[in-house]
Amino acid sequence: MDTAESMVESLSNISDRCSQVSVVVVSVVTNHKLSSLSIISVHRGRKSIDCGVPTQGLDKDRVTGIFYASDDSSITTGVNFNVSEEYGYSTNLFLPYVLGDVRAFPQGSRNCYSLKPSKAKDNLYLIRASFMYGNYDGKNALPEFDLYLNVNFWSTVKFKNASDQVYKEILSFATSDTTYVCLVNKGKGTPFISGLELRPVNNTIYGTEYGRNVSLVLYQRWDIGYLNGTGRYQNDIYDRIWSPYTPVSWISTKTTEYLDIFQSGYRPPDEVIKTAASPKSGDGPLELVWTSEDPNARFYAFLYFAELEKLEKNDSRKINILWNGSPVSENSFIPSSKYSMTFSNSKAFTGKDHLISVQKTEDSTLPPILNAIEIFTAYSLDEFFTAIKDVNAIESIKATYKVNKIWSGDPCSPRLFPWEGIECVYSNPNYQIKSLNLSSSGIQGPIASAFRNLTLLESLDLSNNDLQQNVPEFLADLKHLKFLNLKGNNFTGFIPKSLMKKLKDGVLALSVDDQNLCNSSSCQDKNNMVVPIVVATSVIFLLVVLVIIWIILRQRKRGANSGPGPLLPTGKRRFTYNEVSSITKNFNKVIGKGAFGIVYLGSLEDGTEIAVKMIKDSSSTRPQGSSSSPAPKEFQVEAELLLTVHHRNIASFVGYCDDDRSMALIYEYMANGNLQDYLSSEKAEDLSWERRLHIAIDSAQGLEYLHNGCMPPIVHRDVKTANILLNDNLEAKIADFGVSKVFPEDDISPVETVVMGTPGYIDPE
Ligand SMILES: *[C@@H]1O[C@H](CO)[C@@H](O)[C@H](O)[C@H]1NC(C)=O
Ligand SMILES: *[C@@H]1O[C@H](CO)[C@@H](O)[C@H](O)[C@H]1NC(C)=O
Ligand SMILES: *[C@@H]1O[C@H](CO)[C@@H](O)[C@H](O)[C@H]1NC(C)=O
Repeated sequence: MDTAESMVESLSNISDRCSQVSVVVVSVVTNHKLSSLSIISVHRGRKSIDCGVPTQGLDKDRVTGIFYASDDSSITTGVNFNVSEEYGYSTNLFLPYVLGDVRAFPQGSRNCYSLKPSKAKDNLYLIRASFMYGNYDGKNALPEFDLYLNVNFWSTVKFKNASDQVYKEILSFATSDTTYVCLVNKGKGTPFISGLELRPVNNTIYGTEYGRNVSLVLYQRWDIGYLNGTGRYQNDIYDRIWSPYTPVSWISTKTTEYLDIFQSGYRPPDEVIKTAASPKSGDGPLELVWTSEDPNARFYAFLYFAELEKLEKNDSRKINILWNGSPVSENSFIPSSKYSMTFSNSKAFTGKDHLISVQKTEDSTLPPILNAIEIFTAYSLDEFFTAIKDVNAIESIKATYKVNKIWSGDPCSPRLFPWEGIECVYSNPNYQIKSLNLSSSGIQGPIASAFRNLTLLESLDLSNNDLQQNVPEFLADLKHLKFLNLKGNNFTGFIPKSLMKKLKDGVLALSVDDQNLCNSSSCQDKNNMVVPIVVATSVIFLLVVLVIIWIILRQRKRGANSGPGPLLPTGKRRFTYNEVSSITKNFNKVIGKGAFGIVYLGSLEDGTEIAVKMIKDSSSTRPQGSSSSPAPKEFQVEAELLLTVHHRNIASFVGYCDDDRSMALIYEYMANGNLQDYLSSEKAEDLSWERRLHIAIDSAQGLEYLHNGCMPPIVHRDVKTANILLNDNLEAKIADFGVSKVFPEDDISPVETVVMGTPGYIDPE
């Protein structure tokens, strides 16, 4: 037991020191003996992603033992491929696991992964992207493309040949909980990616004079001296890949003694720090030379030192580091034999030619050594992000309409590659959306309120979609809006007065379907308009009739019956009798008997359940409401009306059939039938008072919409429980417009004296 306890104690010491690792100890103690002990280390915030594999369990790299997950949850675009066989695992047993398959992006100029490691914001991450072309597309053409981290350029990805393994690595502080890795098509071939890895790094290391305003892109990472591994070590907590490097003029040394790597925070793995090199020539310097293509590039070098030899009493090793002849560290130093030390330049190295020289001081008896070095290029994070308000608005629009475009990463930034259909105002410190083109994007439903949050919007093109309901007032609140195209949608009602005013004032160019353009009188009178609903309690309802347009329409249509039916707005459908018959599986299931016909259950090709109300054509006009009287006029009214009415408390209309054989109205299917039946069934016992109240409110809202929301107003004239339908959530919708009346707005003179409605519901007098 003592041993177990002390082991647990020493394990928890380790876990304290490794801030990124939690050590879980699972032990089973039987008869005071430790029978099993295992350690599971969990790396918080790490992500290892294999790009281009379908969702599955984790897969383990046989060399590194790292488990990789599919990229399905971090990206929605792109196409998966395997590399061609000659480059795959079958011919190369040690191919890193992630390089066997790729995700390629033939569509869109910018495709982004969104990575959300836990607690990302404000923490330093090492991000590594890996690529191997492997002739995955069979074209044998090496692509070239750019890589961006969030909105800033990271690197260009190029290949020497199809088996070239390219790794790009960057150290950057996460500015938000989501990190985007974007691939940008430069017109030099389709971008693709093989793997992505995120490793949290201690925030206090790899500092520069620019603090968090730069990212460090890896230029070289060398393990100097002896090497017998892969360059990737399991005990490297940050999972860095160290390339072996020992020029011929250098001589390697190594140690097996313990060296403390925790001291500095950089924590080079044992394999790296326990090997080093010195110049063969004894007194000379260790020199590293490189040339930069960009004379303005800024480099930072991190040099690792530890004494690997047992020094004699009179021996000393003292070191100076110089860059292009000037000292990097103020003082010379003596490498420690107990722990690793890391030195870096406090000011960036700039220019074309670079020479780092590690020298012994005059009074040093031993030559200089170097254990490892990392060289990075600093990239300023000088691109701005889109304002968060605009991002939220456009993300909400994207989600509401399930916009089918390559919309990933930041909407406006980087400037050269904004989202498709978006233009932005590029003013500091945040970019904002000024133009949005969703023309012909297949979007459906009402205009989302999120549009009002795009406050700098100047141009909005929503033409040729299936947008419905009213054109909302709030569009007039967009102060900068100069261009608005709403043509080719299914809006009901008229354009709000406030927008019409902008149009008249010449500040807005508005394109809209004629049916939504108000004529002058309705525009001017809208506010004062009286909805002429006459309710008389002492006399029979005297209802006003003026427009019997539908009769005229009907007559006209009869005259030209051979031609195609009236054009239905997109989404609505006119069906033939044969179609209706097949939709209802030959009128198989009766779900109700309405006032004017039998209602059948049907289902559309996409599986949507619908209710089909059949009405036999008959020229006789019998009294309204008697249960077996089909009436073509009423049918006509209902069909015409339903096409213009959209509200969540009005049964929604799928289409109709009106051919020589029969007439039918097709509605959404309401699973709970009509309220009358529902209330008289056993189910009513479970109907709470709250639910009942909701049903009443729903119905009232439907009626309110008919009276006040529709232009011209509609009076139902046959409101009763049998005409209130309930869906599976027990939400009420008003149906059955068979006897409804449309009130023309500008004339109330003629009087209709026909009694309408269902006996028992109409006024007895
Ligand atoms: C890649 O290869 C694996 C295993 O051979 C296979 O299951 C998978 O379907 C392949 N993927 C593609 C995109 O062809
Ligand atoms: C491909 O390029 C890499 C990197 O330059 C090189 O090591 C390798 O030998 C090349 N392979 C072939 C088949 O040319
Ligand atoms: C929106 O895009 C369509 C093509 O997709 C184009 O015809 C139309 O002119 C664009 N609208 C604006 C305002 O640029």
